[in-house]
Amino acid sequence: MAKLTLRDVDVRGKRVLVRVDFNVPIKEDGDKVEITDDTRIREALPTISYLREHKAKTILMSHFGRPKGKRVAKYSLRPVADHLHTLIDQPVIFSHDTIGEVPHKIVSAMCDCDVAMLENLRFQPEEEANDPKFAEALAKFGEIYVNDAFGAAHRAHASTAGVPKFIKPCVMGFLMEKELKYLHDELDKPAKPFVVIMGGAKVSDKIGVLKALIQKADAILIGGAMANTFFKAEGIPIGASRVEADKTALAKEVVELAKKRGVQFLLPIDVVETQEIKAGAPKRNTSRLSRESGITGGWQAVDIGKATIALFQEEIANAKTVLWNGPVGIFEIPDFAEGTIAIAEAMAKSSATTIIGGGDSVTAVKQAGLADKMTFISTGGGASLELLEGKELPGVAALTDKS
Ligand code: 3PG
Repeated sequence: MAKLTLRDVDVRGKRVLVRVDFNVPIKEDGDKVEITDDTRIREALPTISYLREHKAKTILMSHFGRPKGKRVAKYSLRPVADHLHTLIDQPVIFSHDTIGEVPHKIVSAMCDCDVAMLENLRFQPEEEANDPKFAEALAKFGEIYVNDAFGAAHRAHASTAGVPKFIKPCVMGFLMEKELKYLHDELDKPAKPFVVIMGGAKVSDKIGVLKALIQKADAILIGGAMANTFFKAEGIPIGASRVEADKTALAKEVVELAKKRGVQFLLPIDVVETQEIKAGAPKRNTSRLSRESGITGGWQAVDIGKATIALFQEEIANAKTVLWNGPVGIFEIPDFAEGTIAIAEAMAKSSATTIIGGGDSVTAVKQAGLADKMTFISTGGGASLELLEGKELPGVAALTDKS
């Protein structure tokens, strides 16, 4: 069901309560907290700027980390508010409480174009419990509700699923709209050939996504430690490689499903192996993997091999749509990052619609300096996986229908 967007409502002079996902990575330096990647804040700027330009009073709310319902100093949103101040070149009025008298006074005194931010929603246990009283208290701050927090849209929390019960209208922000356009609409009927690259450690984390994408993809390329579970299922020796030994039946099920649907399901044909997961450790490229010649002894797979890189590059070059989720090796260690970087480069070179589905592959693309070469990079981790699985996101479902 199509949902209302920010463009559908008149925000002039109104108090607009905006759920953003400012759950950004940080580095602690003594008492100081440094934001190491502000992408999620920057991606919310189109919505915030639009509201300022249209003379709304903007009240931002977000979660930050997992403080489990308690005030935890390092998860205060104050440094995020200060950072936003520098990005929009306008002071952000910060409320050190999430609900109660302090934010109430701040909101009552706001003028048109002002921007305020509430303290971390998760300092209150009621947020994750989706407590209706808490949701109602938050809702009192706004006359219009905007959800621009795609990264948190899979959580049925008070600020995502609860508040919309107490304010109308509830609309999508521009980031939410963009995420749904690429991860939902575009992939609903993707331009073909549609190639999916799935990496990461566990098959069990990606099983729902794999099954859903097999219905649409022409080829699925597997990398990362999850490939080892598929190798084991096929009887290919994996040595000391990381594996989900109890998930081989699940892996077989996926392979069977792909066969039935006529989808190419490509496992690595060779890998980079090492005896120790650390920088500078000796490594070698296996010869072709098979039941007779797999990984042996104390060696373990840490990246896709050279022949696999060439094979995957060719698939990507011939595709019209490419979706990538999860690194194909332990890319945090540069010695084992060649495969992951090669995937990023192949996507950057391709003329296909290229979509990075959130999580670690986003970090890899940024590390490779290729972020601006992709058609779309999601800001959501868990949310993008659930959306790709075909699940309804509570934070989207709660918004007002266009009709
Ligand atoms: C994320 O970083 O994926 C989102 O902000 C959601 O955070 P959460 O997994 O702690 O709910």
